Amino acid sequence: MTVSKISKCPVIADLRPEDEPYSKVFTTNPANFFEQLRQQENLCQITMEGNFPVWLITKFDDAQQVLKDPRFTKVPADARDRTSPTYDPENEAPIYRMTEENMLSRDAPEHSRLRSLVQSAFAPRYIQGFRARIQQVADELLDKIQAKGTGQMDFVEEYAYPLPIVVLAELLGLPHHDREKLRIWSEVMMELRITDSNRQALEDASIGLRNYLKEVFVLRREQPGDDLVTALLEARNGTDKLSEEELYAMVFLLIVAGHETTAHLLGNSMYTLLANPDQLAMLRNDPALIVPAVDEMLRHSGPVLTSTMRRASTDIVWGGVTMKEGDGVLVVLSSANMDATKFTDPQVFDIKREYNKHIAFGFGAHFCIGASLARLEAEIAIAAMLQRFPDLQFDPAVDVLEWRNNMLIRGLRKLPLVF
Ligand code: HEM
Repeated sequence: MTVSKISKCPVIADLRPEDEPYSKVFTTNPANFFEQLRQQENLCQITMEGNFPVWLITKFDDAQQVLKDPRFTKVPADARDRTSPTYDPENEAPIYRMTEENMLSRDAPEHSRLRSLVQSAFAPRYIQGFRARIQQVADELLDKIQAKGTGQMDFVEEYAYPLPIVVLAELLGLPHHDREKLRIWSEVMMELRITDSNRQALEDASIGLRNYLKEVFVLRREQPGDDLVTALLEARNGTDKLSEEELYAMVFLLIVAGHETTAHLLGNSMYTLLANPDQLAMLRNDPALIVPAVDEMLRHSGPVLTSTMRRASTDIVWGGVTMKEGDGVLVVLSSANMDATKFTDPQVFDIKREYNKHIAFGFGAHFCIGASLARLEAEIAIAAMLQRFPDLQFDPAVDVLEWRNNMLIRGLRKLPLVF
């Protein structure tokens, strides 16, 4: 990514070459960087690969306004015209339909239609039915870690990553084989935009996922189960149902949106608790605090730094600037959640925080459909971990923890712990 010197934003114009790419500044010390952006009078613009101008929305009130303003469209700029006579479906890798035809890339009314076909599977009451199974998955992973007998673990690799993928696979009804591949596919496909530098990897990963899902759909049509894929194959609103391509796009979205996000919520939460021993002790003394603690982890150390990309559908005057039709807009959710006009002492991690209406799960029409599931997983996973290991600490042999270099997701590559 290039640094935009045309930007009127001094925070970006002053970036040193070693701060590139932006994702590095975003992830290593996001709180300070975002604070500087919020202090600017005008909105800040960056330039992403392909000379694509993108406005950063960093203040809480602006964030909520943008996320509910229909002038910002979710439909990607380069969405293909599949009605054109020159369109050749045989020569198109699945990634394009999967990304363009899922609900997160649609505006109303198509968005509402797709969302309504899957909504009931994510109703909080239904999700609570997974409690016992999530507890069991967490306990089995902890048994495995303990059975190694080393007193050490990589929390990210051995706990945070496997737990949500097992839960997601069971929710969807995906067979056990290829779960490891699911993780790799979702990691590759967790990109903000398709660009020349990531195109090949995304195309390859999407072919693997599509072939896998094709087998799953055949299996679930022959042997329906009590799972989400079966429900989606049968889902109907009156005479309306998902087309075959919409089915692929829906399951693709659920896998990509539900795995890395939850994995890094677990990783960031564990990190933040250990970095704040007073809060950790408070939680250990009163395990019922896990519910507000998870909310505070989402606000303070949420895994999703920015919203997905939106575009101005017309020229829009906002915060002292004019966004041109077609310009990109990213809502920096993690910055909004640190806005001192909304949250008292926002940089302080306080699991008893009184006012905590954060937007870590987004806001408006695209509000995260998996929020109840993610909260439940985090509550169970963190509580189980603390209960199992009363003397959990950072591994003293490791000095520096490395953050992933990604503008969308903030998460640790490894979190070595001793117990
Ligand atoms: C800690 C975990 C999670 C976080 C922080 C998170 C965050 C978000 C955010 C911020 C959005 C809105 C993006 C935007 O407006 O651009 C979103 C949308 C979405 N999330 Fe999540 N998510 C998490 C877990 C999950 C899980 C577990 C699932 C499903 C299994 C899921 C499925 C979705 C879907 C399908 C959407 C699109 C909704 C729509 O377009 O209407 N997410 N998520």
